[in-house]
Amino acid sequence: MTTADQTTALRYVTCGELRPHDEGARVAVRGWVNSTRDHGGLIFIDVRDRFGVTQVVFDPRTADASAYETAGHLRSEDVIMAIGTARRRPAGTENLNLSTGAIEVAADSLEVLNKSKTPPFPLHGDADVDEALRMRYRYIDLRRPQMQRNLELRHRALKAARDYLDSQGFLEIETPMLIKQTPEGARDFLVPSRLYPGEFYALPQSPQLFKQLLMVAGFHRYFQMARCFRDEDTRADRQPEFSQIDIELTFPTQDDVIAVIEGTLSQMFGRALGVDLHPPFRRMTFDQAMADYGSDKPDLRFEMKLGDYSPAFAGTEFKIFASALAKGDAIVGLVDRSGASRSRREFDALVQLAATDFGAKGLAWIAFARDGVKSSLPKAALSETALAAIRQIGAARDGDAVFFVADARPVAQTIAGKLRLHLGTERGLRDPARFEACWVLDFPLFERDPQTGALGPMHHPFTAPAPGQDLAGPDPASLRSQHYDVVLNGSELGSGSIRIHDPHVQRRVFELLGYTEEQVQHRFGFLLEAFAYGAPPHGGMALGIDRIIAIMVGAESIREVIAFPKNQRFQDLMIEAPSAVEPEALRELHIKLDQKKAGDKP
Ligand code: AMO
Repeated sequence: MTTADQTTALRYVTCGELRPHDEGARVAVRGWVNSTRDHGGLIFIDVRDRFGVTQVVFDPRTADASAYETAGHLRSEDVIMAIGTARRRPAGTENLNLSTGAIEVAADSLEVLNKSKTPPFPLHGDADVDEALRMRYRYIDLRRPQMQRNLELRHRALKAARDYLDSQGFLEIETPMLIKQTPEGARDFLVPSRLYPGEFYALPQSPQLFKQLLMVAGFHRYFQMARCFRDEDTRADRQPEFSQIDIELTFPTQDDVIAVIEGTLSQMFGRALGVDLHPPFRRMTFDQAMADYGSDKPDLRFEMKLGDYSPAFAGTEFKIFASALAKGDAIVGLVDRSGASRSRREFDALVQLAATDFGAKGLAWIAFARDGVKSSLPKAALSETALAAIRQIGAARDGDAVFFVADARPVAQTIAGKLRLHLGTERGLRDPARFEACWVLDFPLFERDPQTGALGPMHHPFTAPAPGQDLAGPDPASLRSQHYDVVLNGSELGSGSIRIHDPHVQRRVFELLGYTEEQVQHRFGFLLEAFAYGAPPHGGMALGIDRIIAIMVGAESIREVIAFPKNQRFQDLMIEAPSAVEPEALRELHIKLDQKKAGDKP
């Protein structure tokens, strides 16, 4: 091609492509009408696509008459193709905010590829659009630059993870979607079988058992970008259908898994976001996390550690604290630096919040104000020795306030932990641009249901107990496990464990969990059988993709980083799912509904 051809041949360009050196090129620009302006006869159209915005100008003196006429009637979100010549914008009219801002296209022809109705909400600006409307018109919502950036970042981060895991010898292997229940602690979504009347598949809550079987099958290192399904209540960081980077290794130590996960996360944050997560991450035990932060997912962007103030109130004459201590409860507290300047009304509001939102039976406070000590506690609780001990435990200075929760230790810690987060948010200490990762290790193997007292797995029933413990001992609730979590900015990004690979240990754990022999055979017979055919030691982890990306982009909810999420009530408002099905489809599945009217909404 000669130079002359290059300038005259028509090039189809994206809206983010043109630069000053393209001056003179004949170009076709296709995209959505972002905005239109009429300046004294010149019509300016900003055309947008995923790659950017390009300014197209229709001049009545040079444009085709019908093109000029049509340009005057373009509306937001019409899809067009404009053809013209790229030229530098006149000096002083460049737009430095746009990568294409030094150039524009002087258009001579225009084709409207599709007209758009008036969009249900504006696509630019920070207008607070009702989420239901965004969900109903998700394809329009997704055109917004922020959403396009979110999904592009998601792609980049997952690509980085895939490349890294591949470089470490991991194979990506798919596992089935139509399976039998996997116990991950939530309800299953069930799929009726047409061929086997009355029988159901379950959608996987995670690929847990399949990845373990892949280790038994000798694949050594597995990963999968896995879709998981859990019929649990939605929250900002939960969806009924979500994605994990699911990982499993053969012959690993806990440190091996930790290294792989730190590598994966570092690559994701480094390559997609340019952020260094500074591995190795801090490590702390579950007990330490609870004692210091009142949470097994501590937000380490700020300090404000909790303290055990029980010793300060030993022998107190204040009845509520005295009887709490007598029955073995703890008084957990935290120092609110400069908090003594709060008004009584502000303290009351925090007490109220602790009761309504954090489940506290009460919240006590002491303010070491400059004009004397003020407190919600009666005089009886405020002896000189108690005050001195409180100041000492929390290193509280004049001007500080201290809050106290008396309850069973884990409950008091959890409530104080929630108050800590609240105060952290209130004081602007939870900077979304900072990333503080940590490991929480040495979890208990089981947790007791506070209502029934029944043992349940802290993680899942395939987690190996820590070595050297007696599984036949009197207090199974005191057993420790080889379960670990990775946490970022107070959000649990992933969970994993070294697994049980010995069928006898696995049976014993099922037994402790109260499964009958029949239940074990029915639900896990295949696993125990596999463990009898040369199961290697193995372990792994799953990272919650949606949460990771949400933190990367600073989104409040994981719905902001999922192309087509469900709303808080599990519905897809765009396609209207769930929805009633034809009676014929139910007949084929041998299903009779007992609702009065099929399709009744809850
Ligand atoms: P777990 O159940 O802890 O472990 O899940 C791992 C990670 O997945 C994310 N996650 C979710 N994200 C969005 N919506 C949900 N409903 C949801 N539930 C979980 C979280 C969580 O840390 N099979 C084990 C892993 C293993 O042992 O290897 C498992 O699924 O970020």
